[in-house]
Amino acid sequence: MPAVFTAPDPLSGSTAEHYDAACPDLMDRWSPVMHWVQARSAAGVLPYCKVAAGAPGRRMRGNDAAGRALIGVNFANQDYLSLSNHPRILAAAQQAMTTFGVHSAGSAALMGLTTLTLGLEQALADFTACRTATVFPTGWGAGYGLIRALVRPTDHVVIDLLAHACLQEGAAAATPHVHRFPHLSTDGVARRLHRLREIDPQAGVLVVTESLFSMDSDSPDLGALQHLCRRHRATLMVDVAHDLGALGRGGRGALEDQGMLGEIDIVMGSFSKVFATNGGFVASNHPALRHALRFGSGPQTFSNALSPVQAAVALAALEVVQSPEGAARRTRLEENALLLRQAMEGLGFPVLGRPSGIVPVVLGGDAASRHLTAAVLDSGGIVNLVEYPAVARNACRWRLQVMADHTPDDCLEFAQIVRQARLRLADPKNTLNEKEA
Ligand SMILES: Cc1ncc(COP(=O)(O)O)c(C=O)c1O
Repeated sequence: MPAVFTAPDPLSGSTAEHYDAACPDLMDRWSPVMHWVQARSAAGVLPYCKVAAGAPGRRMRGNDAAGRALIGVNFANQDYLSLSNHPRILAAAQQAMTTFGVHSAGSAALMGLTTLTLGLEQALADFTACRTATVFPTGWGAGYGLIRALVRPTDHVVIDLLAHACLQEGAAAATPHVHRFPHLSTDGVARRLHRLREIDPQAGVLVVTESLFSMDSDSPDLGALQHLCRRHRATLMVDVAHDLGALGRGGRGALEDQGMLGEIDIVMGSFSKVFATNGGFVASNHPALRHALRFGSGPQTFSNALSPVQAAVALAALEVVQSPEGAARRTRLEENALLLRQAMEGLGFPVLGRPSGIVPVVLGGDAASRHLTAAVLDSGGIVNLVEYPAVARNACRWRLQVMADHTPDDCLEFAQIVRQARLRLADPKNTLNEKEA
């Protein structure tokens, strides 16, 4: 008799639980995940893989994965300074297309570099107060590729528990000696470095953190970490994807705030949050690092280089970031973030971290979070839900991403949508089977 198929519960579980690791067929392992995703989609509680019908902006139109229309105020795109439609940046992209075409047609190690890319690398080095910067086709490639290029299987990586997946996966691919430390814990790093140097004085050690964490909007003490690294002959790498350009008086993020510009061993970043394009970079004062990356980092050496259009966009965005207009955009971003944080706290939600373009709003368990997200999306609030395993269990959250172009009214309208959606869910006429309070 064929096994009876039981439809999975769309309101509970995660990808990790539905994945069938024991199945010998590599692709069949994913079938239960597929059924679960389909059940979520059918129940209207799948807020992933949303599709935009236009450019990123404060208000958006599009649809969800099941084709249901989405329209409303948008806190689900990452474009902190609202540069993705900036006229000077669009003009730079058009000019680059006319001069260079749309394709870099080679890896950076061969013939994929353009004069635009080299100009961008110099501008990024200057901006981060480093000797050199090396551009990658994605931020993911920069983080993963840097760790893989530097760390051998006999070396160690000491990494914040909440560091981004590109860093975790780079570390896991580079060495079996990965030591995770509690989020932001300088003491945790100190203890691990001390112990490692006792047992393994000759190995290389890379310490990995972020300057602004993407799910919690908080920052480590960068000076203390760099000091520890120097004391223990370790190398510090800081991912600045979410704050470079968006925070700090001059737009240089937590590095600037903490007086650490030009002081960190290795700075790695992405263009995809502030600089209006795909791409990433690694910057450092060490003269050998650029060569190590050009010739010894897979995503740099064996992947097609950033396109000339992307290089032109990042360069033009960097010019805006450094201008008085950039400072004004950062001010608007900060005002919006403060107002949105206040409004969400006013509704009783815990809001994590420090004010930044990321506003992490804690919702709680799976079922309640999925229901509320569906109700808000339905009512004109476009949001991203983050669930386990991207965050801890029962700590589902919205990662609201604020933009300079949002208005105070957008923030208040969103809060009002959430308030009404919550009231509607509390109505006993609601037919969905709510398991969690
Ligand atoms: C902290 C962090 N690092 C790296 C990346 C990867 O950047 P990209 O989107 O440019 O590949 C991201 C993007 O999600 C990120 O949040």
